[in-house]
Amino acid sequence: MSGADINKLILAGLTTLLVMLLIGNVVNELSHSEPLEQNAYAVLGSDGATSGEPAAAEVEAVPTLESVTPLLAAADLDAGQKAAKRCAACHTFKDGGANKLGPNLWAIVGKEKGTVDGFSYSGALEDTGGVWSYDDLNAFLADPKGFLKGTKMNFSGIKDVEDRAAVIAYLRAQADSPLALPE
Ligand code: HEC
Repeated sequence: MSGADINKLILAGLTTLLVMLLIGNVVNELSHSEPLEQNAYAVLGSDGATSGEPAAAEVEAVPTLESVTPLLAAADLDAGQKAAKRCAACHTFKDGGANKLGPNLWAIVGKEKGTVDGFSYSGALEDTGGVWSYDDLNAFLADPKGFLKGTKMNFSGIKDVEDRAAVIAYLRAQADSPLALPE
């Protein structure tokens, strides 16, 4: 092969490469898609018409919690003791009783929250502060995790206000000097 032949061969090769590059560019240009002017699908809630928000009238009213306060004086202590059997899996009620899964509950009504000696509380209960008032016990026992997010008391709650009143009256009686009943 002469020097001129080799030159031709190289030229042919370069030409082919150039053509391929050009074709590639054109294809790329042609297939390049324009950005969509709108999303192809409607985003829920992005405008009033497709909003998923229910109209105000459809929003269910959150039921307010019934207070135990008017029921405490006449509450049935025996019924309270019976209902408190559900608590006894995790709590003792006697003076000096042991901490189990939950702390001992002697004189808990009116007591500073999260302060039973030797019990390891959740951060949630430790940080909440204040005393166990009748109102707070009512709310806590109705829905422990609703009242105190992060509590480690795994108990679904007592839904019936009379049952709650009976249990709280029973708790109140487990003390040397029970907290005064609310006015
Ligand atoms: C499955 C076990 C369990 C059951 C059942 C249970 N508790 Fe508890 N209870 C706990 C635990 C655990 C804690 C500590 C919670 C924390 O640290 O967040 C607690 C905390 C409490 C406290 C706060 C005590 C304090 O020192 O501040 C009260 C009051 C209480 N429980 C009452 C009850 C009553 C009344 C019942 C029954 C109606 C009941 N518990 C049922 C496990 C239980």
